[in-house]
Amino acid sequence: MRIRRKKHLEERKDAVGDILLTADFDIKNALEAIKDKRYYNLALIFGNDNPICMEIGCGKGLFVCETAKRNPSVNYVAVELLDNIIVMACERCRRYQLENVRFFNCGADYLPRYIADNTLSKLYLNFSPPFPGDRYENRRLTCDRLMEYYNKMLKHDGEIHLKTDDKGFFDYSYDQMIKHGYLVKIEDVQETHTNEDYVKTEYEIKFNNENKPIYKFIAKKLSN
Ligand SMILES: C[S@@+](CC[C@H](N)C(=O)[O-])C[C@H]1O[C@@H](n2cnc3c(N)ncnc32)[C@H](O)[C@@H]1O
Repeated sequence: MRIRRKKHLEERKDAVGDILLTADFDIKNALEAIKDKRYYNLALIFGNDNPICMEIGCGKGLFVCETAKRNPSVNYVAVELLDNIIVMACERCRRYQLENVRFFNCGADYLPRYIADNTLSKLYLNFSPPFPGDRYENRRLTCDRLMEYYNKMLKHDGEIHLKTDDKGFFDYSYDQMIKHGYLVKIEDVQETHTNEDYVKTEYEIKFNNENKPIYKFIAKKLSN
């Protein structure tokens, strides 16, 4: 049963191979892998020089596809660790008939190997796993190590947009932005989430249905 499901997954991944990029697994240790640069030529991949935004942890791709549909002159790279999840995001992109999204099956730790410095205009972190407690702090998507990677990949004036239901992760991430020299503006999602131009994620819809509060900030990079 398991083998059949896996085979089916490989077939589905092949069917979206033109929009799905996959990390090389030649070096297992991410810290070692990022020393061996294999930058993607994103202008070539998208066929234009439009601004590039990234979502890390895109899940099944609702947010990135809706955002890309509304902004056809922006390119989006959607990163997701799990191949059985990212394939669903790719299939959604197909249904939406979008030309301006590519998916990257990769952990955030490997991104500096593939994404050159000063590439991104915006980075979206939507409902990232909070990893509460001290023990797994270095797995949070806003830990020091990853903040240093984001700082390099983002352009001057680039932004990190973060949404979460987890107040502890929100407060931690806010402090991390300040520590790394970003200018942070908190947004009141309760006021804006019913606006027509507001794009929700899958998890956000679930949390809205449970009447859970959502926290959001936009952090602007000030350094070069
Ligand atoms: C809670 S889900 C949120 C999905 C989507 N962003 C949403 O809001 O509906 C978090 C997603 O982030 C992915 N993820 C977690 N850590 C990651 C990492 N280090 N690199 C890439 N993706 C990651 C998980 O596999 C999962 O699909």
